[in-house]
Order: sequence, then structure tokens, then C-alpha cells
Amino acid sequence: MIQVRRLGHATFETPDVEKQIDYYTQVLGLVLAAREKDRAFLATKTGQLAITLQRGEAARCTKLAFEVSPKENFADMAKRLAGEGIRSESKSDAIPGTPKVLAFEDNKGTTIELFTEWGFLGRDQAIMGVGPLKFGHIAFACPNQKEVTDFYCRVLGFRVSDWIEDFFSFLRCGPDHHTVNFIRGNSTKLHHIAFELKDFAHLQSACEWFGRKNVTIIWGPGRHGAGHNIFIYHRNADDQIVECYTELDTMSDEELGYFDPKPWHVDQPQRPKVWDRKAATLVWGPPPTPDYFRGRDAPSF
Ligand SMILES: [Fe+2]
Repeated sequence: MIQVRRLGHATFETPDVEKQIDYYTQVLGLVLAAREKDRAFLATKTGQLAITLQRGEAARCTKLAFEVSPKENFADMAKRLAGEGIRSESKSDAIPGTPKVLAFEDNKGTTIELFTEWGFLGRDQAIMGVGPLKFGHIAFACPNQKEVTDFYCRVLGFRVSDWIEDFFSFLRCGPDHHTVNFIRGNSTKLHHIAFELKDFAHLQSACEWFGRKNVTIIWGPGRHGAGHNIFIYHRNADDQIVECYTELDTMSDEELGYFDPKPWHVDQPQRPKVWDRKAATLVWGPPPTPDYFRGRDAPSF
């Protein structure tokens, strides 16, 4: 097994790189850290690479990059993957600031890139728009959500934080309640991506900015049950759902096995569990608008 420690960035193909750059830099508040003819690299204001855009025929997420321990050895990781029947390939200089990655495919067709070394892409950069702290999590719909959940636990060392019934898993690779989600769907596609904001005041500022930029909030503000994050959702220039959140549950100590106590927890202590759909969806807040469900072939949430 390989122990993934942190979500790095996601790579998206898009038919209109320029339109997505405009969205990410002028609405969400990322920084255009590097630009090639058919690729763009977008970082948070702290200089962490968050999103890579690649010109392609359709809007889709093709790759996910995760950081592993600096003590990890690429040949040894490749051997452990081969033990699981997974062929991997070492690549150099594919990403600015990241000299080397080990690439392989997960069991829903997304390329996984593991890296040990990375560099900040600038610092104290001027941003416009929301300005999230970090790229926090990514959720996929897929018909084999149980097998994909097993793969991420068995191969990449994720732990299950929660299930909503048997259709939606929340997996952590560090203190954050979830870094990846897998929800049952008729086909494999992106469900949403999520960026962490500082606090509720930052979230309110994001709402004001979306109002100014005519970006429709399609769900929220509200607080989820599973993960207990305060959330708002909108759509980016490729019609993909983007969540901005704050106050996500954290598990500071894996051995203690519970999420850090919060006033809004009903369970004492709050441990990983199977939720029913209603309790998992909302502690408070409005129901989703119809636009949140547009294009969905997966159960609600
Ligand atoms: Fe989310």
C-alpha cells in the first residue's frame, strides 16, 4: 500500500482554456502561475498548484495528483503497485515546480500522479475574486462507487470517514474529513470540486462577489451533516459544480478515531458512520435548487 498524504491538484480537459482561465482568475480567485499554448496552471494565492487546464474536446477531469511522504521511493512504490496488478510509469518535468511523478490509472479511468517534491509557484500573489485557501476535495460519480472506494483505501491508504447509506463515500488521507468522494452514478464523471475558505465571513464575501459577477449560487449557504462543512455551490465556465466551504470536520488523531468535537455535532463523539440521506445532507440551510441537480444521473446530495 502507498500512503497518500495530501491532495495536490487536478487536471481538467476543456474545449475553452481561455474561458476557464477567466473564471478561475476573476471569479474564484486563483493565480495564473504558468501558461503554455494548450495548458494553464492555476495556483492558490499561497502559490500551491490547484488546477491544471489542458485543451481537449470535452470538459472532464483526467488526472489527480497526490503528495506522498518525502521518504517514499519511486521504484519501491512502482513495485507495490505492480503487486496490485497496476502498471505505473515515472515521468519528469510534466508539472511546474514538481520535478517527478509516478503515474498510473485508478479503477474508474482517472490518471493518478504521485509526487514527493514540489515548489511554491510564487508567493503573496495579488488575487481577484474569492481567493480560496486550498483545493480541498474532489467528488466523482461512478457506477462502481464501492469498488473505487475499496481501491483508494487498499492502494492509496485512504480511510473511510463516512458513508451516506451505500451510495456515497467520504474518504480522508489526512486530518480533513474528506479529500475524495465517490457517489453512485450511471456513468463515470465529475460530481464537484471544492475549495476551502477561511471562515464564514470569507464565505459571505464569496457570496457577495458571486452576486457582483452574476454567478448563481445553486445551493447554500448551509451546513452539511456528513463532514459538517458550511457550503455554497456554483457552476464554473464549463458548467462543472464548484463548492466553497469552511469548518469541515477534522480528525487530528487517527488513533483516537473521532472527529474533533464541535458544538454542531449530534453524536458524542463524532465517529465515522453510515448516515441516512436526510441527516447527511443538511444540519441547516435551504434545499438544493433544481440547477444543482441539472445533468445529474446520481442520487441527490
Ligand atoms: Fe463537497
